Amino acid sequence: MSGNKCVEFLQWALPQMRMRWPGFRKVRRQVCRRIAGRIEELHLAGLSHYKTYLADHREEWKKLESFCRISISRFYRDKSVFQFLQDVVLKELAQEAGTDSVRCWCCGCAAGEEPYTLSLLWHHFLKPSFPSKDIEIIATDSMKHMLHRALKGHYAGSSIKELPAALLQAAFIRQNKQYLLKSAYRDSVRFLQQDVRKRMPAGPFHLILCRYLVFTYFDEKLQGKLLEKILTRLVTGGALVLGKIDRLPYTTEKLEPWSEGDRIYRKIR
Ligand SMILES: C[S@@+](CC[C@H](N)C(=O)[O-])C[C@H]1O[C@@H](n2cnc3c(N)ncnc32)[C@H](O)[C@@H]1O
Repeated sequence: MSGNKCVEFLQWALPQMRMRWPGFRKVRRQVCRRIAGRIEELHLAGLSHYKTYLADHREEWKKLESFCRISISRFYRDKSVFQFLQDVVLKELAQEAGTDSVRCWCCGCAAGEEPYTLSLLWHHFLKPSFPSKDIEIIATDSMKHMLHRALKGHYAGSSIKELPAALLQAAFIRQNKQYLLKSAYRDSVRFLQQDVRKRMPAGPFHLILCRYLVFTYFDEKLQGKLLEKILTRLVTGGALVLGKIDRLPYTTEKLEPWSEGDRIYRKIR
């Protein structure tokens, strides 16, 4: 299967699943490899036959959609984002939250790298200044096996390579080539299997991270619909964090940039 043919196929198929091609440009090889494997498994002659197969077997679209789930993540991904969360956002949220805990939601949490990074920052840098407060993190993902991995808390070296050395040393136990996150950091995170297109945790949250999922892969109309729902779960004064390549689908007076380049927004009304 040639790369060009697969790109053409994706440009045809993605909009039918309410997804957008630009989000997949960089990861297309991974998706194309999965599709090629499926074509082989079905003993089909190529992509045009797969198109016919999709037309004849509506349930195959679910399979195709699963090939389009990208699970790349790592601890401390986009260093400047977590630095800003640590120095500014979490501090302000902890000061202003009129509750015992700062409530966070990580949407599309992969194997826990992102919610656990928040937990690490909290316990190391914020907790000493806010001893009476806690952090509560709800982390959701649609893929059961990712959540399973998250609960185990075992990571390869590539997942933790961006973590500052002090955090790595304090929070992980090395086991051969793997790193095990200590349970103290895992206890603040609750994982739920949810497809964000169908369900979201109720909230309200002081901080929502929705990075490299909704605003990367979904089409603009779906992004807009989900943004509305996300915003109803964010308190006024709370922060919404997107991935660095993500864009809001429309401008809204409910949000103002908090850290422009890092795509961190504050809800102002
Ligand atoms: C590219 S990863 C991003 C992980 C993390 N947010 C980060 O920025 O490092 C996208 C994650 O979204 C999950 N995902 C894909 N489609 C989803 C959906 N419809 N609902 C919830 N999670 C989904 C994938 O399983 C994957 O773990």
